[in-house]
Amino acid sequence: MKKVIAIYPGSFDPLTNGHLDLIERGSKIFDELIVAILRNSEKTPLFSLGERRQMLEAMTERWNNVRVDTFEGLMVDYAMRVEATAVLRGIRAISDYEYELQMALMNRKLAPNLETVFMMPAEAYSYLSSRLVREIAQLGGAVSGLVPELVEQRLREKMDPALKFQKVRKSRTGKKQ
Ligand code: PNS
Repeated sequence: MKKVIAIYPGSFDPLTNGHLDLIERGSKIFDELIVAILRNSEKTPLFSLGERRQMLEAMTERWNNVRVDTFEGLMVDYAMRVEATAVLRGIRAISDYEYELQMALMNRKLAPNLETVFMMPAEAYSYLSSRLVREIAQLGGAVSGLVPELVEQRLREKMDPALKFQKVRKSRTGKKQ
């Protein structure tokens, strides 16, 4: 039987525990899941494409059927290139529904054979979004439990670049010992 390849497109700026929850659920129902980060030159992201990719790769390496990629242009064109037949999107609350429905129907108009599959993340993440995580981190609030520890650390370094410098220095001195 033909294997089902799905893409999970998004900005992932940054990756949250809600995204990871959805990736885990998706990995169970699709043969292959490609987490596809949008390369969008119009937006100024908090994390560069490379940083987002690296965090996603580190956090998804536990699933053998999940890989990370980037794309630009129309999502349906990318889906066709990687031979995906499904698009995974998360719906947290009714407020997501209108936008997601519009996008799914427009994508269906563009590519009738590409199915959008909606999944709900765990309730605990129903109020979680990358935008709120960015805002909280930028204003000095705590994001523990909302994002993986790796992302939490990268957010701290982003807000206080001196921390990154200290880490590099520590690892360099560590090597000399
Ligand atoms: O995580 P996001 O930012 O809500 O993801 C939005 C994304 C990347 C899925 C959407 O913006 C997208 O698919 N962009 C690619 C361009 C495209 O295909 N636009 C037409 C959508 S109907």
